Amino acid sequence: MKIGVIGGTGGQGLGIALRFVQAGEDVIIGSRTVDKAEAAVTKVKEILGDVRNIRAGANPDVAQEADVLVLTVPLAAQKDTLLSIREGAKGKPLLDATGPLESAIGGSATKCLLLPEGSAAQRAQAILPETKVICAFNNISQTWWMVIDEEIDCDCLICGDDRDAKAMVTPLIEKVPGLRVIDCGALERASIIEKITPLLIGLNIRNKCQFGGIRITGLDKGRVC
Ligand SMILES: NC(=O)c1ccc[n+]([C@@H]2O[C@H](COP(=O)([O-])OP(=O)(O)OC[C@H]3O[C@@H](n4cnc5c(N)ncnc54)[C@H](OP(=O)(O)O)[C@@H]3O)[C@@H](O)[C@H]2O)c1
Repeated sequence: MKIGVIGGTGGQGLGIALRFVQAGEDVIIGSRTVDKAEAAVTKVKEILGDVRNIRAGANPDVAQEADVLVLTVPLAAQKDTLLSIREGAKGKPLLDATGPLESAIGGSATKCLLLPEGSAAQRAQAILPETKVICAFNNISQTWWMVIDEEIDCDCLICGDDRDAKAMVTPLIEKVPGLRVIDCGALERASIIEKITPLLIGLNIRNKCQFGGIRITGLDKGRVC
């Protein structure tokens, strides 16, 4: 299974790529500029050693080659980036991490933008109707991905309308040590999942913590907290 990280040169994408490479998966880092993607691959190799399971490419080529796509670009770049990978992304699962935070337009990272589609993930689905969009990784910060000598002590809340696609990506995501996937249902649930992120950022600021993620307990005991 090849994982293509579209916009994998930024904080979130690089961290996700790093963790999947560490878990032994084949990763292709995508960028608008191949040189920038190559530089990100070099960075991963500086951290993990001379790993062979990572390479670089232009976003449209990465989308063609990969089996599963991860989208990690700012909201303002979401539409153009998705249109640039439209052909390659057809029929494939796309894990959309896009956060509709106010900071995307110069506002606060503790507030959410209200999008006409309901959420950034639903917006992605409207832009690429033939792609199986799954909201994922929204509540896990880059600080967690980058601490590679620790397990990620977080749940990965996902939602999407294609059950087979969710069943396909769940064991893949859970290859990252510590991550547990929780399927929250249909894609419209993304409007809730995406709003948890500014809540977490606000809590972390108030309590002088680093933004990490969430862990839901009690799922197996009939008492969800
Ligand atoms: N950082 C976190 O902790 C975190 C946590 C949860 C969710 N997220 C979400 O994940 C996404 C990525 O976050 P990030 O912090 O990694 O973002 P970022 O570093 O600002 O950007 C990621 C990549 O997106 C591409 N990009 C940036 N601006 C662009 C533009 N105007 N047009 C086209 N491409 C552009 C760039 O790739 P190239 O120049 O190589 O093409 C860049 O390296 C965001 O939507 C964010 O809300 C982030």
